[in-house]
Amino acid sequence: MNRVLIIGAGGVGNVVAHKCAQVKRVFSDIWLASRTQAKCEQIRRDVRRITGRTLSIAQVDADNVAETVRLIRRVRPNLVINVALPYQDLSLMDACLATGVHYLDTANYEPRDEAKFCYKWQWAYRRRFTEAGLTALLGCGFDPGVTNVFCSHAATHLFDSIDTVDIVDANAGSHGHAFATNFNPEINIREITQRGKYFEKGKWVVIPAMSLHHSFHFPEGIGPKEIYLLYHEELESLARNIKGVKRLRFWMTFSENYLTHLRVLQNVGMTRIDPVTYQGRDIVPIQFLKALLPDPASLAKTYSGKTCIGCVIEGTRNGKRRTCFVYNICDHAACYREVNAQAISYTTGVPAMIGAMLMLTGQWLKPGVWNTEEFNPDPFMAALNTHGLPWKETLPKKGFTGFLR
Ligand SMILES: NC(=O)c1ccc[n+]([C@@H]2O[C@H](COP(=O)([O-])OP(=O)(O)OC[C@H]3O[C@@H](n4cnc5c(N)ncnc54)[C@H](OP(=O)(O)O)[C@@H]3O)[C@@H](O)[C@H]2O)c1
Repeated sequence: MNRVLIIGAGGVGNVVAHKCAQVKRVFSDIWLASRTQAKCEQIRRDVRRITGRTLSIAQVDADNVAETVRLIRRVRPNLVINVALPYQDLSLMDACLATGVHYLDTANYEPRDEAKFCYKWQWAYRRRFTEAGLTALLGCGFDPGVTNVFCSHAATHLFDSIDTVDIVDANAGSHGHAFATNFNPEINIREITQRGKYFEKGKWVVIPAMSLHHSFHFPEGIGPKEIYLLYHEELESLARNIKGVKRLRFWMTFSENYLTHLRVLQNVGMTRIDPVTYQGRDIVPIQFLKALLPDPASLAKTYSGKTCIGCVIEGTRNGKRRTCFVYNICDHAACYREVNAQAISYTTGVPAMIGAMLMLTGQWLKPGVWNTEEFNPDPFMAALNTHGLPWKETLPKKGFTGFLR
């Protein structure tokens, strides 16, 4: 029997709960705990209505290690799936070490007072997890997560050597609001207002935020979209794990409307992460902004259109140069019909369930702290096709990636 404890009852936690409930032979017992128990109750009602299975639920403050340890001792799970916020990563890893439980998350640790995400804090747990015989699987969402596995799949099956990877992430959907973010607004805005950064010839190159952009032609009817270079966390692990890679970049689509709102919010100080005093009390502007913006999960009902996330990979095979595009297309409305979610939550929650499934069945279990590209990509790629995120690989026509060179 396998028991999982999912922590975080937001947009992604909802999808993980539904997808685990769909795979009863692996996830025989599912617990969901979060800061606000009412959100767990709502997800429990939806999962019961759609799958007929009943989750156990609990309230927990995952910033509090002692409280989380008490919950883990009560539940006795085989695995903790962390889909709360990046701020909780280290306290949850500590709680897993204290209780002897495997760990999985979808986003790397970030300190609250500094908009800086990187793996150094979590990689520093490698020795402790190894000595405890426990596995910690980091960044097992779509990007990071699936994008890393697309790269290891390409390195295993499509290339003898990889020179460049360009990860492209398009949301060509429409939610009908003037401005909203597709996952937690505080985490999302902290990420995209950072300076751009990419890896080239063994070094990191830093550029002003949103200063490099191009048009990219996305497949399957999405068409041309403007993509902007961002720093994204999978670049850090891929730079270590793809041997001999010369360049790694990450690009995301933004509309003019989105960028205009973001610019105004930045200019007036609403994206600040330091406290300001207002009427005698300290408030953090970005947290206040989060309270004003739509809850990303609430966008799902009316969201239409598709996402496309994939890796454009260049390298050599049998002495010849080649370019491959490995990608997934996901439809917002189809996600809503299946699990009451929009595609951004869905494309994050499904890979988290798949990673958990591979850990619980022993296929992705080895003591230590790992990123997804460090495991055999084959069972993960196969599971994407059967659990809602089918992928394609194409050898694009000449000119397809012209600007990327
Ligand atoms: N890899 C990827 O592709 C990818 C893509 C998108 C998102 N993500 C990551 O997925 C995670 C979840 O995103 P989301 O959109 O679902 O966010 P969300 O809707 O804001 O949900 C976060 C949930 O965590 C709970 N939470 C926050 N602090 C907590 C604490 N101290 N103790 C217990 N629970 C706590 C929140 O509780 P309340 O309800 O009380 O606020 C909320 O239910 C984030 O880490 C995000 O960075 C990864």
